[in-house]
Amino acid sequence: MTAASASTPRLERWLAEQRWFARTDGVEPTIAATVRAPVKRGTSVVVLTVGDHRYQLIESGGGPDAANDPAVGGALARFVAASGRALADDGSELRGRWIGAKAPGRAAARPLGAEQSNTSIAVGGSHVLKVLRRVSTGVHPELEVGAHLAGSPDAPVAQLAGWYDLVGRDGSVTTLGLVHELVPGALDGWGLVLSALAADPGGVLARLRDLGVAVAQLHGALALPGDGGTFGVEPLAGTAVWALADRVLSDPSTPPRAHGAIAHAVEGLGDDAGAAIRTHGDLHLGQTVVGPDGWVILDFEGEPARSLDERRARTSPLRDVAGMLRSFSYAAAAHERAGGRPLSAGWEAGARAAFLDGYLATVDPGLLPRSMAAARHLLTLLELEKVVYELAYERAHRPDWVAIPARGLDQLLDRTVR
Ligand SMILES: Nc1ncnc2c1ncn2[C@@H]1O[C@H](COP(=O)(O)OP(=O)(O)O)[C@@H](O)[C@H]1O
Ligand SMILES: [Mg+2]
Repeated sequence: MTAASASTPRLERWLAEQRWFARTDGVEPTIAATVRAPVKRGTSVVVLTVGDHRYQLIESGGGPDAANDPAVGGALARFVAASGRALADDGSELRGRWIGAKAPGRAAARPLGAEQSNTSIAVGGSHVLKVLRRVSTGVHPELEVGAHLAGSPDAPVAQLAGWYDLVGRDGSVTTLGLVHELVPGALDGWGLVLSALAADPGGVLARLRDLGVAVAQLHGALALPGDGGTFGVEPLAGTAVWALADRVLSDPSTPPRAHGAIAHAVEGLGDDAGAAIRTHGDLHLGQTVVGPDGWVILDFEGEPARSLDERRARTSPLRDVAGMLRSFSYAAAAHERAGGRPLSAGWEAGARAAFLDGYLATVDPGLLPRSMAAARHLLTLLELEKVVYELAYERAHRPDWVAIPARGLDQLLDRTVR
């Protein structure tokens, strides 16, 4: 572990500007500790401790971070593919681990640019390296899910090929990055739906039905027991449903006029809540791509704001369904905000129906409540939970988007308490 260097203030300013950095308003970030491990000469993985969080960046050359540099991405992927090991300056060990069917190809690395929570780089024309930015000790959900889904080669996901982590002298493991197989020619689901809304809104419904099929297939694979982790099926306890309803009821963003719908859904559900399984945890159109074999679901990190334990907990598979349905609502709104031609009133209803049709025709019925009426009630509850979260999120971050969840809430209440 090295002391702060002369360039620390510059690095701290740079950190504060990053989308993935957990800002505390009015507080300048202070780097409390730095761990460096060499990947090759002149290139190191660096883990910084700032407040309660740790962050990864890649040092190479002069700038604060070189994770988007193709040569660096290539070197890091080769380190992983060779199951490399390197000693860090605090005595911990940087470890690569490869389980991929084939090694990365020779094509130059290419940053994917879609900077969200992390930094992803296509490497060798064959794989995608994701450098995790906010890192923590403990089982990383995307690694755990990836290892589990390696047992389901037909699942509609990009197969995990490798990862790298830092093992402390006390044995604690911090996952730092993952390598998945590249989906060739991938079109991202959000962009695909928005382009379709501009050109042929009705034409995309068949694809959304296929997306429902893909999500159901994913849930089938996540419900298999597997060797480790918390996979397999258990009943979703009535107490878990009450706790969920309580959370929504007591959320200050929940308007009183929604209380009746929540009570109605809980009553209608009774003790028929179906199963709890590991889920995607943060499913929306931006987590999907379409490749040559159809839809592929990506990014099993869960909601980054939640704790690792929460993200690894089993829950109703309908939680993912609710996330995707809300994404259709956002897509329709984003289309209109971008000045697109007004959609026919029924587009969103048609998108929901198509997706649910594919999902319900494919999913193992044992994962859902026994009665369709109960399944609808549970879905309503989960959508309400999402909408309420969105209301709070948009108020805090994007006030001019509040109208989207507000409209979603109205539609949800219209559909349920008629
Ligand atoms: N295996 C892959 N094949 C093709 N594109 C991918 C793959 N993995 C990720 N991408 C692209 O990179 C983007 C970000 O990946 P994601 O895993 O969602 O990262 P983040 O955690 O930053 O959200 C995806 O939206 C997709 O466009
Ligand atoms: Mg993502």
